[in-house]
Amino acid sequence: MKIRSADFVMSNSNVTKAPQERMPEYAFIGRSNVGKSSLINMLMERKDLAKISGKPGKTQLINHFKINDEWFLVDLPGYGYAKVSKKKRTIFQFFIENYFKEREQLVCTFVLIDSRHDPQKIDLEFMKFLGENQIPFCIAFTKADKLGSSKLNKQITSYKKKLLNTWETLPKSFITSSSTGLGREEFLDFIDGVNED
Ligand code: GTP
Ligand code: MG
Repeated sequence: MKIRSADFVMSNSNVTKAPQERMPEYAFIGRSNVGKSSLINMLMERKDLAKISGKPGKTQLINHFKINDEWFLVDLPGYGYAKVSKKKRTIFQFFIENYFKEREQLVCTFVLIDSRHDPQKIDLEFMKFLGENQIPFCIAFTKADKLGSSKLNKQITSYKKKLLNTWETLPKSFITSSSTGLGREEFLDFIDGVNED
């Protein structure tokens, strides 16, 4: 898929105020600092369409980006960041949960997982929440450039194997690096396919 346009539309904490157009929407979720905003920039070949930071907790709202005037990408706040106050965490959880439960345009969610990490409780719980709410999702392994290729393959094979302890079938997954552009074409081809369905 060729990206002809990628425009920031709005940020908000209330899903009912999100864009009303009935266009397919793809959301990026995962732990703080896993690389959600960076992956959006990499896919769109834009440096700072989505705001990124070395410090976790950068993205704090639901951010809509309109792509090719045909579909939306949504950058969400990360979960699992201990330094966010408990009150703020509860508010985040509330609006993120609401987003997933209410957003009818959402066609697929990408759960981002750092390629270097073993399955963590918070990610498994989030995938369970998506499953329980019948929200289709894929996994995007991020920061693949941080591991050598044999370590990377080993780590991802082991991650998938562990997922099979709780899931009967594996979700589709992508291996990505926002530094090298790895996975970009496969990712965009997948979205193109879903948009056409
Ligand atoms: P929050 O908005 O805080 O939840 O974080 P996020 O998941 O949006 O992460 P963000 O894209 O802001 O990236 C966090 C840090 O990881 C930044 O310092 C990025 O430069 C770095 N980073 C993201 N993706 C990659 C990658 O593929 N490779 C490498 N080497 N670094 C990356
Ligand atoms: Mg972010």
